[in-house]
Amino acid sequence: ASLELGPFSHFMQKEIHEQPKALADTIEPILTHRFKAELFGANAEEVFSNIDSVQIIACGTSFYAGSVARYWIESIAGIPCNVDIASEYRYRDVAANPRQLIVTISQSGETLDTMEALKYAKSYGCEQTLSICNVRESAIPRASKLVFYTRAGAEIGVASTKAFTTQLIALFALTGVLAKLRGRLNDEKEAEYLDSLRHLPGSVQHALNLEPQIQRWANKFAGKEHALFLGRGVHYPIALEGALKLKEISYIHAEAYPAGELKHGPLALVDSNMPVVVISPNDNLLEKVKSNIQEVRARGGEIFAFADLDSHFGESDIVHVIRTPRHVGVLSPVVHTIPVQLLAYHAALARGTDVDKPRNLAKSVTVE
Ligand code: G6P
Repeated sequence: ASLELGPFSHFMQKEIHEQPKALADTIEPILTHRFKAELFGANAEEVFSNIDSVQIIACGTSFYAGSVARYWIESIAGIPCNVDIASEYRYRDVAANPRQLIVTISQSGETLDTMEALKYAKSYGCEQTLSICNVRESAIPRASKLVFYTRAGAEIGVASTKAFTTQLIALFALTGVLAKLRGRLNDEKEAEYLDSLRHLPGSVQHALNLEPQIQRWANKFAGKEHALFLGRGVHYPIALEGALKLKEISYIHAEAYPAGELKHGPLALVDSNMPVVVISPNDNLLEKVKSNIQEVRARGGEIFAFADLDSHFGESDIVHVIRTPRHVGVLSPVVHTIPVQLLAYHAALARGTDVDKPRNLAKSVTVE
């Protein structure tokens, strides 16, 4: 294994650092074909022209990728989008309609609940199915009409990292294609999005370079039993992903909340023993997030903010800030995933847990 790991201590760390390449490889066909439906298969244009809504289904980290996509699909493509956890979808009476595009997201392509949810959707007459998957010819893409393969390469660490960020690229491509087919993407906007994609691996590399700073934060987290993650809008699912990563590999109890919900419950938990991680790049919700942070400060909570320079966060004894890359625009959730992955990794390392094989968890869950 040491040969395979090169300079890294764990597969998870190696896979976190492979993201600029995994992303560039996944982005390449999009730069070549632009937002053409064929990215998703030969008959994709016909399929996409016949849908009126999108239903995303997935488990775990893949579900959070879908949760980011909902913001993109509704705002950029203007198409109603619903996201479900596979084990919930497959057991409820759904109001499915044949004009729904069913999108399953699965790194392994073998997750049983996701597979069963796909079959369940088909039993309702939903034939327009797309799988976003990292493993070629696995069960879920084989059962789907359309497929987009992420090019993350083999992912060995149980906690998903590069699969997640490349899934986001696939979902952004889907958004662009749907928007274009609906006349909601003019040439100028298309060029702007392609430019953002082109620059993304570089911005992700900048985020990776923050590792020494993040490691110092992680050492403080290692002594805690609880942590709270906050985000708003498209960054809320990134807060969820950060909390999941921390739970999975460091066994620190972590919860994520949309920052606006703070006052409806979690604020009661905030004291000096509860670190609060805030994902707060400069977007249209920044001022709202800042006032949410004031609520935490007023209760003596210690804040760890990932914010770009344009966010103008003042530091103090109880507000720590790590500056993330600027001007990443609509792909900001991809870049802001990196620091929460690194935080979880280094917190786990400091606690001495088995990072690549966390207790009680499996890489691919093929049983119910
Ligand atoms: C397991 C893994 C997670 C993964 C989830 C869904 O819980 O530990 O990392 O996100 O399954 O897996 P999939 O292969 O369907 O994306």
